[in-house]
Amino acid sequence: MNTLNGKHIILGITGGIAAYKSAELTRRLRDAGAVVRVVMTHGATEFVTPLTFQALSGNPVHTELLDENAEAGMGHIELARWADAILIAPASANCMAKLAQGRADDLLTTLCLASDAPLAIAPAMNRIMWSNVATQDNFNVLNQRGVHLFGPASGAQACGETGEGRMLEVPELINALSGLFKSGVLQGINVLITAGPTYEPIDPVRFIGNRSSGRMGFALAQAAREAGANVTLVSGPSNEATPEDVRRIDVETAAQMHEAVMQQVRHSRIFISAAAVADYRPKTASTKKLKKHDAELTIELERNEDILSAVAGSSPGPFVVGFAAETENLETNARTKLENKSLDMIAANLVGKDANAQDIGFNSEYNALHVLWTDGAQVLEQARKTTLARELINLVAHQFNKNRQHEKNTA
Ligand code: PMT
Repeated sequence: MNTLNGKHIILGITGGIAAYKSAELTRRLRDAGAVVRVVMTHGATEFVTPLTFQALSGNPVHTELLDENAEAGMGHIELARWADAILIAPASANCMAKLAQGRADDLLTTLCLASDAPLAIAPAMNRIMWSNVATQDNFNVLNQRGVHLFGPASGAQACGETGEGRMLEVPELINALSGLFKSGVLQGINVLITAGPTYEPIDPVRFIGNRSSGRMGFALAQAAREAGANVTLVSGPSNEATPEDVRRIDVETAAQMHEAVMQQVRHSRIFISAAAVADYRPKTASTKKLKKHDAELTIELERNEDILSAVAGSSPGPFVVGFAAETENLETNARTKLENKSLDMIAANLVGKDANAQDIGFNSEYNALHVLWTDGAQVLEQARKTTLARELINLVAHQFNKNRQHEKNTA
């Protein structure tokens, strides 16, 4: 599976002859669907020009930590938050030493300190520099801190020597980077997810709907797939692209979503309800376009089935994760929903407009979640929905696997 599609990748380039290979790497990352922002050290610009990487990445290249223009565009903190992963290729011995010391004396090292995205480095240097005790010590320090170390490989070197210290080839780097997003925590588990709004018809051209874009649910589908799950996504009307290897069932109304979910849920071990399902629908939908005869129009509404409650009440049921969209009393309201609907977990988000009239929760690229379960809670701080989705899937997998273990022990 191509896990790089849509991922935000910072490609750090340090001074080394292997920097020429990073041009090809940028191309291949983009071919895989990644959005790439290149950060070059001064040393790197001696080997290859920023212009090359600007053309290949389609984005301005970042070289300076203290550059007014760059900070006005995308400042270093924003850039650090933007990243799903940072890959430094080539990573020089000097860069490894600075990372091991936690230095922040240029843009690249500062980003590495300021970002909580996974960091991977592809060392590239002369074989004697590589085998030097200082470099090996730095390598071990970085390894212990959880930095992902891609290579180096062994072979002919630009300096004419042969030995260990060559940067991995581009396809190997792409593979290794893609592997960072494959957690395997839900390997082989069938997961059913709902996403998007529902449209409840008033007449052939009008409906009652909501502002859900589907982004949160689609991001969860992608994250669950990357965690190794077999994912079925039941989606209301949405313009989001279907994640690779995810089975998508399109519906329009809450009743259709209910039917699709109840059919699919029998084969599912986990159900995540991220859709913004209409609670009510017009009692009768006119077959003809309504005319504006009167000053007022009354549309009588009736309740839709609560899909989440129906799934939670089914036996034997899956592990059920609901969402709570709230404009106030986030935690209290969410805990009430968790208990009233007998859920295993609930992810609560604030929705509506913020002080600048920007959408929050609904139809925004960002979100923040308060995740609650019977005997625990965790706050997932504001981040892009793709990042939050990976965090939430990890939490779901943890609780799901804990329950499974408990069931085994008590069987
Ligand atoms: O799609 P995006 O633009 O990315 O926005 C994401 C989101 C804000 C829609 C998402 O994060 C979210 O909060 N989804 C749930 C929205 C909602 O309907 O919340 P609720 O508090 O009204 O409902 C509680 C739960 O019951 C939800 O899991 C909902 O899917 C479910 N429900 C509600 C009504 C109904 N008839 N059937 C249901 O299953």
